[in-house]
Amino acid sequence: MMRTAFIGTGGIASVHLRYLKMRRDVRVAALCDMKREQAVKRQQEFGGEVFTDYRMMLDQVKPDAVWLCTPPIVRREPLLACADRGIPVFCEKPAERREAEAAATAGGLTKRKAHVQIGYVFRCMPAVQQLRVLMRDDPIHLVQSFYGCNVSLTMELPAWFYDKAKSGGALVDQATHNLDLLRYLFGEVKEVRGSARNPVHKQRKGYTIDETLGLVFTFASGIIGTHVHTWVGDAWRNELVFSGEKRLYRLFPGGRLVVEQPSAGAHNKLSRHLTKTATKGVFEFQPGSRPIYEYENEIFLKMVKTGDWSINPCDYTDGWKSLQLTLACDKALTQDRVVRL
Ligand SMILES: NC(=O)c1ccc[n+]([C@@H]2O[C@H](COP(=O)([O-])OP(=O)(O)OC[C@H]3O[C@@H](n4cnc5c(N)ncnc54)[C@H](O)[C@@H]3O)[C@@H](O)[C@H]2O)c1
Repeated sequence: MMRTAFIGTGGIASVHLRYLKMRRDVRVAALCDMKREQAVKRQQEFGGEVFTDYRMMLDQVKPDAVWLCTPPIVRREPLLACADRGIPVFCEKPAERREAEAAATAGGLTKRKAHVQIGYVFRCMPAVQQLRVLMRDDPIHLVQSFYGCNVSLTMELPAWFYDKAKSGGALVDQATHNLDLLRYLFGEVKEVRGSARNPVHKQRKGYTIDETLGLVFTFASGIIGTHVHTWVGDAWRNELVFSGEKRLYRLFPGGRLVVEQPSAGAHNKLSRHLTKTATKGVFEFQPGSRPIYEYENEIFLKMVKTGDWSINPCDYTDGWKSLQLTLACDKALTQDRVVRL
């Protein structure tokens, strides 16, 4: 039975805990949160011993694996504390909030030969793996990414999300998912420009995030891409569109993929991999009912069990590269200039 522990037991921790609860081979041994009442709340549903000091938890419980689900300014010390004890970590994205801290953490983890998976959840979705197969014979030249939600209208997130120094706002907290996926699918970005606005609430102390932003990238491969993002939209939406020479691909990171090829004949590649829709030339990949977070957790547990880390979807260094791209985008927004990577 694998004994697991959590550092940070807020919103996203409950998503991972729900999956672990379904696994017969895993037990939640301990939960640590600096707010004791938060850890106690999770304990009522998932069990485990409660701690407010993660070092004490690691030394007393000696878990087989840890989930690090704290805000991104709380990464380096818990990651190195686990590495010092030889404990593998599933670390929520982003890898860090600050570039210098991420560089120091990467160095420390390499020195300790640590095993860390960064939770860039889209990489592990079956729809993304399907997409990679379909795009193999189709050169992509243009990509478009959109992420929208209404969290600056509802103000429903914990306060630290609205403080850009802590969360990085829409870009470092959310857009980083899409930016990471673009890197994963299309390689490195070499140049970015962008702009940001606050059309609803002016920035003030404690509310320093950008409400809307737009970015244009050039990839090293020559692909041109955009990402636009709003925190003052009507609802949660996320959609990426990839334009190839043969087909158009629409990825909805809930797990659905729609591919259009009006010229596709009856026995084409798409009909072998996807389901036909009622519209001619439009095919779909339907994800089933599993929450997308299950796939990344499944892989992490497999790596911990087998000791085979060659299948790590995103190690710390890779996650750090996605952070570097994300922070370069932020520089382009705040300094209103082209940033070269
Ligand atoms: N992959 C995803 O889709 C996804 C979704 C939501 C959040 N996240 C990421 O997960 C992380 C956490 O986000 P959240 O929404 O759960 O935030 P949250 O504020 O709900 O939870 C964070 C918890 O960490 C605790 N904490 C902070 N410092 C601590 C410390 N030193 N020791 C112990 N506990 C500490 C806080 O008290 C809080 O309970 C962020 O990096 C966020 O970007 C990822």
